[in-house]
Amino acid sequence: MSVETPPGTGALTTRWAPVRSAVPRAAFLPRVIWAHDLVTDELTVYDRDRDPHGWQAAADSDDPLVTQWDDGHHSGTGRGKMATSSSSMPSLVVRMLTDLDPRPGQRVLEIGTGTGWNAALLAQHLGAGNVVTIEVDPALAEAARAALQRAGLPVEAVHGDGFAGYPAGAPYDRIIATCGLRSIPYAWIEQTRPGGVILVPWGTPFSPTEALARLTVDGATASGRFTRPVTFMNLRDQRRTTPPVTRTTSPPRAGTAPERAPLALLARPSSLALTRPSASLSVCGSPIAHTW
Ligand SMILES: C[S@@+](CC[C@H](N)C(=O)[O-])C[C@H]1O[C@@H](n2cnc3c(N)ncnc32)[C@H](O)[C@@H]1O
Repeated sequence: MSVETPPGTGALTTRWAPVRSAVPRAAFLPRVIWAHDLVTDELTVYDRDRDPHGWQAAADSDDPLVTQWDDGHHSGTGRGKMATSSSSMPSLVVRMLTDLDPRPGQRVLEIGTGTGWNAALLAQHLGAGNVVTIEVDPALAEAARAALQRAGLPVEAVHGDGFAGYPAGAPYDRIIATCGLRSIPYAWIEQTRPGGVILVPWGTPFSPTEALARLTVDGATASGRFTRPVTFMNLRDQRRTTPPVTRTTSPPRAGTAPERAPLALLARPSSLALTRPSASLSVCGSPIAHTW
């Protein structure tokens, strides 16, 4: 879903504003979209054929838009059981691109093509042939490929499981995941050049939310820090199966730090390190495990 917490306000960095203007989100959206109002937590459906103005306003808004339910097994304008693809809120997309900091000419792999809009922004910024994006859902991958072609943006849009990365296009200077992960694959380190960056929404299996980890690859290891709290749809094989944790303490008083709140913890300096051979993630600095 890629909902920022707290809701963003649409601030754009100077560098990405012209890129975003050149690549409108509407060109990558399906006919039916569900806009998620982060203030009311309500979803509103827009069908482009029935309400073109409402649909366009949603496309131009800073709302995250659900674009697929139930891995494509749901149709119609009602809500499905589980949102399985979305176009993230544009202000968060731009913040993530700012964190990723790709330079023109560098090669980037995106995990989670979705609509293809984020890949399109990357292609507009990086130039021809430098962006590969991989999507696990075949119908979404095909729709994104078509939209990228219509937009004239040369992206290699692949159907496959991004957990394995995409070795055929490696090495990459940057890897960005636009779905949440509970474990980060070592393959991504192997496919990133030394000095390259991996940006990934990472959370523990006990949390429905993530923090953006920005890891710099140094040979066989990668380490870095969290840049911001986020909430993303999880990688398909890492969807949460445990029941949500219920609060056992009183809600915090206004102005105080909530107890057991992962996002409050993540606001403090924390860092991550990934090392061979287990490819497991260890948390350094402020140890997350101490509070959960
Ligand atoms: C929040 S959406 C991505 C939004 C997208 N970047 C865009 O610009 O529209 C997350 C996407 O990750 C995809 N996904 C989930 N698991 C995946 C996997 N193992 N490999 C590749 N894509 C995956 C989902 O199908 C979904 O389309």
